[in-house]
Amino acid sequence: MSALSELYQEIAACQRCDLAKHRTRAVPGEGSENAEIVFIGEAPGWHEDQQGRPFVGSAGQYLDRLLVSIGLKREQVYITNVVKGRPPGNRDPLPAEIAACRGWLDRQIELISPKMIVTLGRYSMAMFFPGKSISKIHGTAQKRENIIYYAMYHPAAALHQQSLRQTIEADMLKIPSLLAEAKTIAETEPQPEQLSMF
Ligand code: URA
Repeated sequence: MSALSELYQEIAACQRCDLAKHRTRAVPGEGSENAEIVFIGEAPGWHEDQQGRPFVGSAGQYLDRLLVSIGLKREQVYITNVVKGRPPGNRDPLPAEIAACRGWLDRQIELISPKMIVTLGRYSMAMFFPGKSISKIHGTAQKRENIIYYAMYHPAAALHQQSLRQTIEADMLKIPSLLAEAKTIAETEPQPEQLSMF
């Protein structure tokens, strides 16, 4: 069994917060252990909770189309969320739930070792760009320890707010060149710890 599958079993049994009481199924994430790019959303919704898979509802279908726009299929990337259990009534995840779930996300990132991490929406942005505002930093990237972190609006926000559609679609189109840059960084390591915005 792969290390990711073993991790999924642990996540399925997780009782670290009250979301465990409400969920139908845990939604650990899916994609290749060798993915170069990881997308991190907020929390499973109703469809995800039913199927145990991330981004399979309308926001997920839109994410699939965004991926196609840069020539990627779902299977080529890794998709997960900040919390792995559906918050009841689709409410926002609570700080304690996010903190309880953080270790799972860290282990996923460790196992996959991606070149690029894309945050989708405010909650995952807050983890990797603390104190920033999505309206200011969407479409911008930071490079830290050989990983490029890139902030985007959540696809559901763009579905509900027509004015964000062009923005999210344009932000998506910047990913291929950032990923190419991330690969160059990986090839030219070792690098000192650094933080730069570009
Ligand atoms: N929204 C998310 O943030 N994650 C999902 O998996 C589905 C919708």
